[in-house]
Amino acid sequence: MKKLLITIDGPAGAGKSTVSRALAERLGYRYVDTGALYRGVAYVARHRGVAEQDDAGLSDLLDALALNFILGNTGQRLTANGEDITDAIRTPEISMLASAVSARPVVREVLLRVQRELGRQKAAVFEGRDMGTVVFPDADVKFFLDASTRTRAQRRFAEAKDPSAVSFEAIERDMRQRDRQDSTRALAPLKAAADAVVIDSTELTIDQVVEQMLAHVRGVLDRG
Ligand code: DC
Repeated sequence: MKKLLITIDGPAGAGKSTVSRALAERLGYRYVDTGALYRGVAYVARHRGVAEQDDAGLSDLLDALALNFILGNTGQRLTANGEDITDAIRTPEISMLASAVSARPVVREVLLRVQRELGRQKAAVFEGRDMGTVVFPDADVKFFLDASTRTRAQRRFAEAKDPSAVSFEAIERDMRQRDRQDSTRALAPLKAAADAVVIDSTELTIDQVVEQMLAHVRGVLDRG
């Protein structure tokens, strides 16, 4: 059967990660979370004291940085020069810093190459912000997954490991700020590709979204 390259773009909290992982599993495809790469750069910059606007510093950092996805016992892990950073990149601070460094051309340029290399074998679901618009404009199937800001913030709040340590208001405020940054930056802003299938998940369960996507993918596969 033909191996497809599938892209899923959309704002934070729309359900992209869960849906992308499930879709990849159903198809027997690889799942690539490209936001984790931006988070990895942000994490290493934070630890080396490189500021988000310091393009020369970011460039040096990127020259010596190897980000790798590794399949371990507990699912997919991300390493930065061998260090497992999977859990460390999931903090509100790194979310915001990832959004900031992702606006720097020097960062996007390097990660563009990394992502295209990861996509060469196809049979993969790539999740991010500019997968269908910039990184894989010729992808076989493109989805854009959206949901209302309130719903997305509620989902993030429900996912919080310690809900007493975060407020719903702070999550919603950070989300709005990140959406604004990600969709207004000059380079590769968050937006649906003209040929993307747009799905609004506000009123849908994860399973319903995955089924809609699978139906579309099967249609593409049937057409050969
Ligand atoms: O999907 P995420 O929340 O883990 O992504 C973190 C940040 O990385 C997001 O705010 C914007 C940036 N990003 C990007 O610019 N392009 C991508 N393809 C993926 C993420």
